[in-house]
Amino acid sequence: MKRRNIVAGNWKMNLTVAESKELASAVLAEIGEGFSGCEVGVAPTFVALSETGKVIESGSLFLAAQNCHFENDGAYTGEISARMLLAAGCSYVIIGHSERRQFFGETDVIVNRKVRKALQEGLNVILCVGETLEEREGGITGDVVTRQVKGGLDGIAGIGELVIAYEPVWAIGTGKTATSEQAQEVHALIRRTVAELYGTEAADCLRIQYGGSVKPSNAAELFAMPDIDGGLIGGASLNAADFAAIVRAAC
Ligand code: PGA
Repeated sequence: MKRRNIVAGNWKMNLTVAESKELASAVLAEIGEGFSGCEVGVAPTFVALSETGKVIESGSLFLAAQNCHFENDGAYTGEISARMLLAAGCSYVIIGHSERRQFFGETDVIVNRKVRKALQEGLNVILCVGETLEEREGGITGDVVTRQVKGGLDGIAGIGELVIAYEPVWAIGTGKTATSEQAQEVHALIRRTVAELYGTEAADCLRIQYGGSVKPSNAAELFAMPDIDGGLIGGASLNAADFAAIVRAAC
């Protein structure tokens, strides 16, 4: 089964609105029409979503948010809802990124509530999972990732177009990439887990991105693995030429 690769640039807490617009234009200029074979998008900060959306409107990049709340509105100071993101032009939201789990106390239960709400509102989801170095060294990578996948999808009847991103925490922003074999092993496990929950057809269609120090020099090898269907790119997505090179590797 040939799945369409998906590449997303997670800009994290970087760039002003003006800088975001500039980077979006540069990305469009660099990749040109070179991404018809796959889906490509960027995830700016909340404040830059609308303006970045206007820049990429003309191209065929999708707009993603980096987080959302699990309610549509209410007394949740500082939060942004899935409904608002949709209205701001987003088609995707990244949920459960390890930085959210690590620095903002997001548990599988919170992640699950967010995933449910986003899907309910019609926003597509990139659900992030991944083990820490301690967990990998303790030999519990499989248990952790399985728990995060099952926890994140708990009570969700169908996953539709949902995407899962496998991001080993020890590989994020560290320059250490999982080898393509290490990544493939976990991707295959995620697909088996989803097959258990939703059947083999849904699992075959599921796109699983790899994230964690993806760069132009390692992208092609990672994306060549049978269960790796693109990437979630942090650091390298802040450089238009590097991001474009990764996109070309995926397309
Ligand atoms: P990195 O980040 O590419 O900078 O390692 C990936 C991510 O956190 O999504």
